[in-house]
Amino acid sequence: MKIVITGAKGQLGNELLTILSKGKSEIGKISSLYQDCEVTGLDIGELDICDTKAINSFFENTRPDIVINCAAMTNVDACESNIEGAMKVNAIGPRNLAIACERSNSKLVHISTDYVFPGSNSTPYREWDTCNPNSIYGKSKFLGECYVRQQLKHHFIVRTAWLYGYLGNNFVKTMLNIGKEKNEVKVVDDQIGNPTNANDLAHHILNLALTEEYGTYHCTGNGETSWYEFACQIMKLAKLDCKVIPCSTEEYPRPAKRPSFSSLDNLALRCCIKDEMRPWQKALKSYIKKVLEENLI
Ligand SMILES: NC(=O)c1ccc[n+]([C@@H]2O[C@H](COP(=O)([O-])OP(=O)(O)OC[C@H]3O[C@@H](n4cnc5c(N)ncnc54)[C@H](OP(=O)(O)O)[C@@H]3O)[C@@H](O)[C@H]2O)c1
Repeated sequence: MKIVITGAKGQLGNELLTILSKGKSEIGKISSLYQDCEVTGLDIGELDICDTKAINSFFENTRPDIVINCAAMTNVDACESNIEGAMKVNAIGPRNLAIACERSNSKLVHISTDYVFPGSNSTPYREWDTCNPNSIYGKSKFLGECYVRQQLKHHFIVRTAWLYGYLGNNFVKTMLNIGKEKNEVKVVDDQIGNPTNANDLAHHILNLALTEEYGTYHCTGNGETSWYEFACQIMKLAKLDCKVIPCSTEEYPRPAKRPSFSSLDNLALRCCIKDEMRPWQKALKSYIKKVLEENLI
């Protein structure tokens, strides 16, 4: 079995490669079917998903069984001022992959985001809820989803949120660094979502990819919280003496509008395979332990 991971040097791509090489995640073992598979991790330097010709010739030569697309323009604020960049990487790139996968009869797991939702719900979004993104990032990711659905039968679209992995930067690492250097930090308390450990997400992606349960999935850490409470938990778990002060989104203006409530319910995951996503506090605890022990900041 041939597996290709695009955007392999990102947070999620790195986690997938690690789990595939170890045969297990922090949740548990992955299927033994992965034992003898040929895994190729490629990032923009090796394969730019926006380059239609390069994608087509790569697929003609490789004919992968499973493609996991982790490549994206994930800087939500930068997308606001680089609309073409967001369109290319988050929409055209997945379209290229979907067309190439259809031709070579490959399955595609494409990763999307909670930011496809407007944020006006008061209960967690389910897979059937209507998307209406309010940022360029969310719009470009939504179009990427649409292209994948249009072009490829054998697809999984997996929406996740508030992701943190061992490689690269994220909110948890930022808070750990601030906590070491400062006595206090202001964090917004009026945006609600689901912190997600990339290792847990990667485990579920690999479980899904072996099935024929195609469709759209939500896959986030279980339980919801605000960025403020998330930051408080990080300081507590890392035993950092840094006071977290709640503030409003209005007090902390950013170029991109974020949904105020984008909690996702892993409904399809529960119905089709098991939802073994850990409660967000538990997954965060093991992440912080490893980051501090192995000095990964
Ligand atoms: N991070 C989050 O909080 C979050 C939340 C919800 C959903 N997601 C989704 O989850 C997925 C994985 O996110 P992540 O945090 O692992 O992302 P990430 O760490 O930003 O990694 C993305 C990788 O894709 C690469 N890339 C960018 N343009 C590319 C191109 N044209 N061709 C090939 N590779 C390209 C990036 O390279 P450069 O670094 O050189 O640009 C980077 O290595 C994405 O689909 C993202 O939209 C993330």
